[in-house]
Amino acid sequence: MDPLERPKPKRQLPNLQQAAQLLGLTQRRTRRSALDRILSVEEMRVRARKRVPRSIFDYVDGAAEEEITLRANRDAFQRLRFHPTALNDVSDPDTRSNILGDTVGMPLALAPTGFTRMVHREGEIGVAWAANRAEIPYTLATLGTASAQDICKVTPRVPRWFQLYAHKSEQANLHLLATARTHGFDTLVVTVDTAVIGSKRRDLRSGLTVPPTVSPRTFVDMAVHPRWWTGALTGAPLGFDALGSSGESMFADLNSQFRQGIDATFLRWIRTEWSGKLVIKGIVSPSDACTAFELGADGIVLSNHGGRQLDRTIPPVTALPAIRRAVGPTRTILLDSGIRSGADIVAALCLGADACMIGRPYLYGLMAGGAPGVDRVLSILRDDIVRTMRLLGVQRLSDLGPHHVSSETSPPTESPFLTAASSL
Ligand SMILES: Cc1cc2nc3c(=O)[nH]c(=O)nc-3n(C[C@H](O)[C@H](O)[C@H](O)COP(=O)(O)O)c2cc1C
Repeated sequence: MDPLERPKPKRQLPNLQQAAQLLGLTQRRTRRSALDRILSVEEMRVRARKRVPRSIFDYVDGAAEEEITLRANRDAFQRLRFHPTALNDVSDPDTRSNILGDTVGMPLALAPTGFTRMVHREGEIGVAWAANRAEIPYTLATLGTASAQDICKVTPRVPRWFQLYAHKSEQANLHLLATARTHGFDTLVVTVDTAVIGSKRRDLRSGLTVPPTVSPRTFVDMAVHPRWWTGALTGAPLGFDALGSSGESMFADLNSQFRQGIDATFLRWIRTEWSGKLVIKGIVSPSDACTAFELGADGIVLSNHGGRQLDRTIPPVTALPAIRRAVGPTRTILLDSGIRSGADIVAALCLGADACMIGRPYLYGLMAGGAPGVDRVLSILRDDIVRTMRLLGVQRLSDLGPHHVSSETSPPTESPFLTAASSL
């Protein structure tokens, strides 16, 4: 052949065997469930939106006032950039982590969320079951709609944490501590960022408030979601089971029962009454972080309540480096608010967190598909963590450090796909 002549690929009759392989027709296909086809927390959020009444979705998805903090929490994570190193053996990454002395499957715990059975009939029990499968701690909220006893039954393998909204009444606090202790909750998480309940405008409009004042529009919206209301009507009546209360009286005077502000005197008292591990949740300032440890806390949760309390609060991931410097390298710091992927978790660990917590991501899973939906969210996050570690060039979480991450100052741009997926 003349070397200057244009080479032409050889042609042949269509190879059907090859085409079948390409289309995956040669393997026996197992049907992937709708949940398995979901690849991210954002996609789970979109599915959740379709499966429950708007007011229920908004109760989870919404935040305080203008929702500036809700958006800022995401922006802060989206500004972070990784600095990978490639020349490493990453054949055997290990996601196991130690949180407050317990070995867990990954550096994650499920944050407390109240009224969980309102969003799906499986409620806290379904969420705790998924936490147990993923081998991560589960936190039952004071305003939980499942009892400590029932949570205990589905979490034999994992640490149980109990979140305290402190009552004004000393007796009521002691009763909660005793219930938690009896059912094997070894960590008390005291929430300190709720001096008053944040103003969540989506809930004020729909009427999903305490006490509820459901508007006619919300009622109609609920009526056209039979899957949700059949679940709601066929389950046990909604009550504050974690408090041991049927709900009606609590609904009426919830606001008046809780302490307006937690101070050092109260935390000292809790420290003497609670012999288990003590975690203070809702901290974003270095001075509060130092005070919490001086008062005997075993750990703190950097959190702005997912943007549901004081709007314009600094994102915890932005506050993290200064707080780590202030409390030193050995204190336990957990972080929540805005985590939507395993990469977010890895980034927070690089900046000095020991582990993270999530609220909405697992509630999206619950609304989208009950306990299997939560399970899917946790497996997505776990796969993300493994992949991110490998691509970053680390096999052990303890090898992550500030040199792996930097922050862009320019505003992040959402991927066009995510923007399309989230237009609800
Ligand atoms: C629907 C909902 C209910 C919540 N209820 C509580 C609660 O009862 N006690 C508490 O300390 N935090 C509560 N939180 C805050 C979470 O524990 C957590 O701080 C927050 O969800 C983290 O942000 P993320 O949703 O972006 O992950 C709630 C959050 C949501 C979304």
